[in-house]
Amino acid sequence: MIADTTTFETPTLSPAALRMEQNNTLTSPRQRRNPITFMLFATIDVLYGRKADLRKFLVLEHLAQIPYRSWERVAQRRIARTNGRSRLARRIQERVAEARTQHDNEQWHMLVIEELIARCGARLGHLRYRILPRLIAGPWQLFTWILHLVKPEWSYTLNAAFEDHAEHEYMRFVASHPELATQAFGGELSDRWSQPVTAADVLRQIGHDERYHKLESRAAATGAFHVHQPAALDNETADEPIAA
Ligand SMILES: [Fe+2]
Ligand SMILES: [Fe+2]
Repeated sequence: MIADTTTFETPTLSPAALRMEQNNTLTSPRQRRNPITFMLFATIDVLYGRKADLRKFLVLEHLAQIPYRSWERVAQRRIARTNGRSRLARRIQERVAEARTQHDNEQWHMLVIEELIARCGARLGHLRYRILPRLIAGPWQLFTWILHLVKPEWSYTLNAAFEDHAEHEYMRFVASHPELATQAFGGELSDRWSQPVTAADVLRQIGHDERYHKLESRAAATGAFHVHQPAALDNETADEPIAA
């Protein structure tokens, strides 16, 4: 049986709950950077500036999808090598479903950011925002794939650091742009909510999604399989260790 991917979806919070979660993020310490994320973010800062803005977020979202694609590829390889051990194959398949769901969620982030950029009329230079991110993505994809192949737990730990950075950056960006709270965000991309939301709410939701990705990666790094439980955000649920 293929895993129910809705199990892995990040919870959608109300605007009031999102404001609370923004506070939680802003009052919690950042994860210490490891040498790899330090180098990656330093490169991004050199190319796109130190200041957070929507166009820089677009580049980071582009890179955020890559580890999930690498994990899926490695897991598919491992499924092919389970040699009839169906229990193991099924558990790896659940990991694939989790990676796909997180990847889809990152794509939603990218679409939201693209829409916000389009709304404020900012121009996206083709070389800087289309070609350069692809050039950075190539080695990043190779690196995350090899790392996951060789040492999956390091690859999850690395991703947790990336997601922690993203969570804090989004929440801080919203805090420093109060005008976002007055911009209604409608249309198809707001169909996660049954109530009206603002651009600030949507960016807080992205920040909260990143926190979930971080928790998932931290759990996976310990070999645990974390199942989303919206009411138990900070209580990671672990069951049997998994090899992929
Ligand atoms: Fe993201
Ligand atoms: Fe993420």
